Amino acid sequence: VLKTLKIEFVTLIMNHALHSTKKYLKGVRLMQVIIKENYDEMSKEAAQIIKDAIHLKPNLVLGLATGSTPIGTYKELIRSCKEGDLDFSKVVTFNLDEYVGLPQKHDQSYHYFMHDKLFNHININEANVHVPSGIAKDFAQYCQWYEDEIDKAGGIDLQVLGIGSDGHIGFNEPGTSLASRTSLVTLTEETIEDNKRFFAGDEAAVPRFAITMGVGTIMEAKCCLLVANSEKKADPVSMLVEGPITSQITASALQMHPNAIVIVDESAASKLKRVDYYKWAYENRPTF
Ligand code: PGA
Repeated sequence: VLKTLKIEFVTLIMNHALHSTKKYLKGVRLMQVIIKENYDEMSKEAAQIIKDAIHLKPNLVLGLATGSTPIGTYKELIRSCKEGDLDFSKVVTFNLDEYVGLPQKHDQSYHYFMHDKLFNHININEANVHVPSGIAKDFAQYCQWYEDEIDKAGGIDLQVLGIGSDGHIGFNEPGTSLASRTSLVTLTEETIEDNKRFFAGDEAAVPRFAITMGVGTIMEAKCCLLVANSEKKADPVSMLVEGPITSQITASALQMHPNAIVIVDESAASKLKRVDYYKWAYENRPTF
């Protein structure tokens, strides 16, 4: 009896593994690298992808990012919404991260940022908005709750991402496990230096900790859409697209994602080796 049970168990595990692999491989294709002339064109392209996704699925579960890069994309979405071409009433959002210690109404909290740059200007239902809390009492419990909320919503359909100068996505700094889940993290000095511009240049005012979706959490989104512009992003972008997959550049995990789109302007693309191919592949993308 034990032997039969063992065989059944092994078969069950194998079937499960096979099923997961099939699911993972469904729709696998190249990482799509789209190079646009400038920031405005990059923003328009990213916004168009988000708009198409919402038109296709009005109750889209949309992952959102903060930072300077997606602001132009959000402006385009606001414009479309005001023109009556886009309806956010059923869209559910989950933000990537938040500074620890900043209350929602702090003007540098990501909760504030998202309302200022997007939510206050579109017809989103506030009950559908999720930005991690930077002032939770029990962070471990809170992080698990955030993961559960994503699951309950059916998982993220489309995750918008920026990239840090140290190659991070979310606040997953170099060295973070590529299997990480939502957790409390310590920011690198480089990130603090990059972000002090939002805190009147005062490095000491930048929080040391953040709560962030993990790389593993991000990788479960059905589609990842990363935007990057300016020369400052040329190195991390080249490592993300053409470097080895490494926890030292957490964005490089996207090379393993079955549906990742990277939209960059010419400056951010300036260190890519295969620019001509990316442009050619984009111009000749299959329409069937
Ligand atoms: P940025 O930040 O858009 O302000 O450059 C990107 C990031 O750190 O993810």
